[in-house]
Amino acid sequence: MDSFEKIASLAKRRGFIYPGSEIYGGLAGTWDYGPLGVELKRNLKNEFWRSMVQLRDDVVGIDAAIVMSPKVWEASGHLESFADPLVECKKCHHRFRPDEIANSKSEAPNPKQIRNSKSEIKNKNEELRCPECGGELTEPKQFNLMVETYLGVVEGEKLKTYLRGEITQGVHVNFKNVLSSTRVKPPFGVAQIGKAFRNEITPGGFTFRSREFEQMELQFYTKPDEEESMKWFEYWKEERLTWYLSLGVKKENLHFKEHAKDELAHYARAAFDIEYRVDGVWKEMEGIHHRGDWDVKRHQESSKEDMTYFDEETKERYLPYIVETSGGVDRAALFLLIDAYEEEKLEGGDERTVLKLHPKLAPYKAAVFPLLANKPDLVKLAKTIYDDLKREFMVTWDDRGNIGKRYRAQDEAGTPFCVTVDFDSLEKHDVTVRDRDSMKQDRVSIKELKSYFSKKLE
Ligand code: GAP
Repeated sequence: MDSFEKIASLAKRRGFIYPGSEIYGGLAGTWDYGPLGVELKRNLKNEFWRSMVQLRDDVVGIDAAIVMSPKVWEASGHLESFADPLVECKKCHHRFRPDEIANSKSEAPNPKQIRNSKSEIKNKNEELRCPECGGELTEPKQFNLMVETYLGVVEGEKLKTYLRGEITQGVHVNFKNVLSSTRVKPPFGVAQIGKAFRNEITPGGFTFRSREFEQMELQFYTKPDEEESMKWFEYWKEERLTWYLSLGVKKENLHFKEHAKDELAHYARAAFDIEYRVDGVWKEMEGIHHRGDWDVKRHQESSKEDMTYFDEETKERYLPYIVETSGGVDRAALFLLIDAYEEEKLEGGDERTVLKLHPKLAPYKAAVFPLLANKPDLVKLAKTIYDDLKREFMVTWDDRGNIGKRYRAQDEAGTPFCVTVDFDSLEKHDVTVRDRDSMKQDRVSIKELKSYFSKKLE
């Protein structure tokens, strides 16, 4: 099994992620997060918000609407240019993205290159065959990724619009609102987390390419000065990489990849991806883009609203440049799971699967067990400890099977600590705390337990 398959299997078994609409045969490219997955994702988003908004004086947050006026998407260029190349098999009529069906990544024409240079792709595409039946493929056609929807109640008068293809535009259309309602001034940023939708031609790689997914973004406005905006671009590149490292992602699995000029998205002047290495193949995790003044300029032209900023000190009026950091929450969660996943051989020939998730991200910080489920004194004390801990930490209870099985179950869930209440606990008012990674056990006094965990989870 490759890493995607292993994680998909564990995710379903343990309640991280289920296929969307599964009892109806599923809906391609959609996923439901189960009890563990929702905690992981929430922790990830909280960490993003903490580092990007809470701890900064130059960034504020926003939560814009998913459905926006269709004029937004016309102005932003999405209706014209937000497309991927699609090829169809002339025999079986299956549809694919050419880059998805090449044997190796390097042979594959890149979708953005395809958009920009048709003749070169034609040559490359001739070498590709249908992966289903070996049939000949059509020439690539541009397929727009925006998901259509209709608002209104009267048939025929309904407004055709779109589910947002990126969360970005909700920030840019509010640029002046944020300026006038807060004390920020350039250079400053607006962060947002939310759902985006794309009619992906070939969703796949578990949640890697979904049709509904969440993004976590920063739009950072600077003076329209090449040097200053590039300084911020470099700054945010490093910040974002450091953030992933702070969540425990292994350094050797992360790197930057610069976009070649013919790979740039329609709005970008310069772009780097933070890529994560899965089974030896580098895959995009987050993009850092220099958007120039593309968005504010286009919205100004289209809406006829003045989108300029007036600097009271220097008396300058300008449309700002934008540096963007755009990460996928689901994609980051997937890569964090892959990075944390280990199969270990233990002494005595035993094996375990363990998710060595950073404690900040782990769905449960601790699991509390009575040594034996049929001893009321042990259960009572363990319940008291559990009830006390859950006021401060996300904790779970388990009294099924033997202790060994409970440890294995918590290892697979990524729970960093297990607390066992045994007969000594009744006498000495202490418990055993077992560490997920080292499997070492500490004896900790019950009254010190909260501060013990606070320190460990810092
Ligand atoms: N606002 C810029 C923007 O949306 P993007 O490179 O298209 O840029 C940013 O997307 C990030 O969103 C990607 O790096 C990836 O993490 C995530 N993402 C994009 N498409 C996705 C999809 N179909 N499924 C899951 N995540 C996706």
